[in-house]
Amino acid sequence: MNVRKSGGQASLLRFTTVGSVDDGKSTLIGRILMETNNIFDDQLDAVVKIAKRKGKEEIDLSLLTDGLAAEREQGITIDVAYRYFQTSKRKFIIADTPGHVQYTRNMVTGASTANLAIILIDARKGILEQSRRHGFIASLLQVSHMIVAVNKIDLVDYSQEIFQSIVSEYDEYSRKLDIRDITYIPVSALKGDNVVTKSANTPWYEGPTVLHVLENVHIGSDLNLHDFRFPVQYVIRPDHNFRGYAGKIVTGRIYPGEEIVVLPSGLTSKVKTITTMDGDLAEAGAPQSVVLTLEDEIDISRGDMIVRRQNLPLVEKKIDVILCWMGEEPLKIGKNYFIKHTSRVVNGFVNNLVYMFDINTLHRTDATEHNPFCELLKTLHRTDVDTLMLNEIGRAEIEITQPIIFDQYNKNRETGSFIVIDPDTNFTVGAGMIRGAVRSIEETIHAERKVADTIIKAINITPEKSFVSLEEREKRNNHKSAVVWLTGLSGAGKSTIAKKLERALFSMGCCTAALDGDNLRHGLCKDLGFSHKDRNENIRRVGEVAKVFCEQGSIVICTFISPLRIQRELVRELIPDGKFFEVFIHCSLKTCVKRDPKGLYQKAIDGEIPDFTGIGSPYEEPLNPELIIDSEHRSIDDNLKQIIEKLQSEGILKG
Ligand code: ADX
Repeated sequence: MNVRKSGGQASLLRFTTVGSVDDGKSTLIGRILMETNNIFDDQLDAVVKIAKRKGKEEIDLSLLTDGLAAEREQGITIDVAYRYFQTSKRKFIIADTPGHVQYTRNMVTGASTANLAIILIDARKGILEQSRRHGFIASLLQVSHMIVAVNKIDLVDYSQEIFQSIVSEYDEYSRKLDIRDITYIPVSALKGDNVVTKSANTPWYEGPTVLHVLENVHIGSDLNLHDFRFPVQYVIRPDHNFRGYAGKIVTGRIYPGEEIVVLPSGLTSKVKTITTMDGDLAEAGAPQSVVLTLEDEIDISRGDMIVRRQNLPLVEKKIDVILCWMGEEPLKIGKNYFIKHTSRVVNGFVNNLVYMFDINTLHRTDATEHNPFCELLKTLHRTDVDTLMLNEIGRAEIEITQPIIFDQYNKNRETGSFIVIDPDTNFTVGAGMIRGAVRSIEETIHAERKVADTIIKAINITPEKSFVSLEEREKRNNHKSAVVWLTGLSGAGKSTIAKKLERALFSMGCCTAALDGDNLRHGLCKDLGFSHKDRNENIRRVGEVAKVFCEQGSIVICTFISPLRIQRELVRELIPDGKFFEVFIHCSLKTCVKRDPKGLYQKAIDGEIPDFTGIGSPYEEPLNPELIIDSEHRSIDDNLKQIIEKLQSEGILKG
């Protein structure tokens, strides 16, 4: 058997160029192609002749890319052409969006697969609304790297001041966006300054040239090598002896012998071979097209997805999406559309438009997609929208007739995106990015449980039972076990009350355990920050620890902001009925800010802690807590008494 290893993909860079009309996109591409010897001699001759005929000294580089126009397929509504070229360091694919009007939809299509976007700004005009819009879309589409090319720098006499002022203004704006890496370069695409070679006209500029960034930008970590996703395109069955599944690995890698699951059926098997025209492979990875054969004969059809057993995507019928509308006809809520996602086309409809982005007058709150508090503000400020028109972008909920198998777009651009096709015209009318599932708290809990159960089953773990039962422990302790969960804003007094409570219970002879946010974040949770995702994980871990202590007879006192209802509800689910006490330590934000025991509110207000609870990140008050404690107007002794009385009345402590 001819077994080989497959090559890596980090040497291929996909990029897109965006700019307003006349910003010099085509000239820039032409310049790069010419100076990297990617233009055929006859093409260059033709352009030189045109210049001579017109009596011009300089050739029109933009004509070099004109061939792109011809590459465009006829009749499709999206104007994007792809151009390939290479240098000794790398291969490139440019998604160019020709046409006189720079439609949002063109940019969305071009940028959706790009590793890098070059945004052109005319040095004479400075930053236009368009330039902001382009940055916003690049951020929305999670393009990780950006070059801001301040073009036509020759026309402003290579002025450092003008370049610097554009950099400062755009930098200020882009801080609100989710782009990790931006390089600003003063260029003249026409004259060639800082495009491929460093310019002597800008001695004050010490950064790289455009080509240098393109050749050296590190994109290895942008590739999703982790989540193996293989949508089945064809089932190949030439005879009874062979059954293979053909398709493209959209992300991740796979090896023969690995355990897989077929979704949505849930059937499991192992990879037997990875077959290609050139023989069998010892491993394969995105974006290779391969045929997989499995150890077992199982039922798989086109549109199913093969994934690794311990790394599952989501399977849902209701999804929360960012939708960019590309149709001439406005979006119709409730109308049936085809949703094309990986190798499947399913029926679906938009059942709710949550809000629309106003990308022309982008406010701070609209730009930071990942800041949950801004999300909240946006929802509060929503103006009821009932449609999206051409080029508009909004957040919507889509219902699909059959569940789709996906990942969130920010984890996986391949399985997290889809296009919308109008069944009446067969035109592509929208492109979407999936943010997650649309679920109520109950549905989320149910789904989390299901995923957890599947994983536990898959890794063959059976819990061990202790020889000492909880009943025996409770009898000896002379009290029942419980979890007292103190939630509230930072500075509300959770830790102070907890310490007093622990002392009081200890004096009564109780078996106690204390878990505190600040303490656990120094150890068990020291790898976590304060994003939504990290806080969820923080609370999940703490919930599991609390459960262990509770099972072993302790009264566990937990002090965590635990800002979201869903986090607390998930912990409640872990603990047996009657043993979980959600205690809301109520204190107004104003007073907490005034108390500011750790000086963190001041830092948050000064913008140094962007996701601080109560300032840049939300706190959801409990709707139905077991107890509400007023730490603002009542004394700490009163607070304590209230908790002890509750534990007594509920039978945790003897009266
Ligand atoms: S939780 O949100 O995940 O429940 P946790 O209770 O563990 O938070 O930790 C909160 C403590 O971390 C606060 O008391 C404060 O001292 C510190 N802290 C640091 N950054 C933040 C932040 N962005 N938001 C809230 N607390 C923070």
